[in-house]
Amino acid sequence: MTSDVSPAPRTSKSRVLSGMRPTGALHLGHYHGALKNWVRLQDDYDCFYFVADWHALTTHYEEREVMERYVYDMVIDWVAAGLDPERCTIFLQSRLAEHAELFTLLAMGTPLGWLERVPTYKDQIEKLKDRDLATYGFLGYPLLQAADILIYKAAYVPVGEDQASHVELTREVARRFNHLYGKVPGFDLKVQAALAKLGKDDARYFEKQRKAFQEGGSQEAVGKAEFILKKATANPEWTADDEELLLGHLRGTGKNILSEPQALHTEVTKLPGLDGAKMSKSYGNAIAMREEPAVVTDKMRKMPTDPARVRRTDPGNPERCPVWQFHQVYSDQPTKDWAWKGCTTAGIGCLDCKQPVIDAVLKEQQPWRERAEPYLTNPKHVHWIVEVGTERARSVARSTMKDVRAAMGLNY
Ligand code: TRP
Ligand code: SF4
Repeated sequence: MTSDVSPAPRTSKSRVLSGMRPTGALHLGHYHGALKNWVRLQDDYDCFYFVADWHALTTHYEEREVMERYVYDMVIDWVAAGLDPERCTIFLQSRLAEHAELFTLLAMGTPLGWLERVPTYKDQIEKLKDRDLATYGFLGYPLLQAADILIYKAAYVPVGEDQASHVELTREVARRFNHLYGKVPGFDLKVQAALAKLGKDDARYFEKQRKAFQEGGSQEAVGKAEFILKKATANPEWTADDEELLLGHLRGTGKNILSEPQALHTEVTKLPGLDGAKMSKSYGNAIAMREEPAVVTDKMRKMPTDPARVRRTDPGNPERCPVWQFHQVYSDQPTKDWAWKGCTTAGIGCLDCKQPVIDAVLKEQQPWRERAEPYLTNPKHVHWIVEVGTERARSVARSTMKDVRAAMGLNY
């Protein structure tokens, strides 16, 4: 498995794509486990983030009353956390029928066994015993995810470890597709167009290096040719697609129709729920990102601590206390040292110990509440963000589908 991939920074930004199922307002676990990372990535990548509402329906297909609210509450939290609709593309899966089309076409050649063997399939059926997941849609869950990823030719997919097998399946599906249906139609013409953007001299130089590489295997020539491509990024007309085309041209590999993505498992911060179990709305142990300060304070003051520390005078063991795990996320070293020492020597009480964490959580939430405010008073703003993002995504999805249809002989 590819873990801790640290992609080389590139001038023409690589695409990152990720999605979340709409579960309504997000909590601190979502923020620290995923969203914080999404916000960071938007500086360095061409980020596409979407609401996976069809994926939510694979398990919760009867919940039509809440879906709309869940979708927009979640998008508000994204923006509140710092996703900037000017810098990244935020959209809604169900508005892009192209995803469903690619899903259908990929389904034709995907062996049933590939889907039955995805570990999350049996896991989830076991875990969600109260639901009937013996459905065609649920079996197809990872293939729909593959379509989400492949349709945008994403280079990187930031996901949790639990989703690694889905990205792996996506890679297999892409490989099989490229094997069955080959290269982008009109590859040579597209190469010519990209070469033209380099300008005469650079194009000629590039071609010379390509020959040197293909005839004599010169790595130096590859380096020189790649330098030309790097230089080209200064041209506003130059696109990541051009770069990919010419890299394929340079190495003689052509340009595949679908590209294999890589999972991006960046270090995530694990914030447990108030009781130390996984934070989840359904366990009642969550703090929402935009929870009222008074409620946050109350919840945290009531948070269970080391069960062995019954009286104030009993020393405690932070390792057995969920508050200590909050300190790991929210406190600096001196505060952590203070809490550890105070706990193990009974020098401080549990409420003392919680106070810096409470303060830090409230401080973290403050800008979220402020940024969310205008969207809460005028929901049209959120709809608009999703509208604009969806159209941006659509133009990419459409162009991939054109190639896919042609490759499969469906352009009649
Ligand atoms: N399955 C993902 C999850 O539950 C959500 C998802 C759907 C996704 N499609 C995706 C994530 C594509 C990354 C890329 O978290
Ligand atoms: Fe937990 Fe802090 Fe109380 Fe120790 S003092 S039990 S770490 S809350």
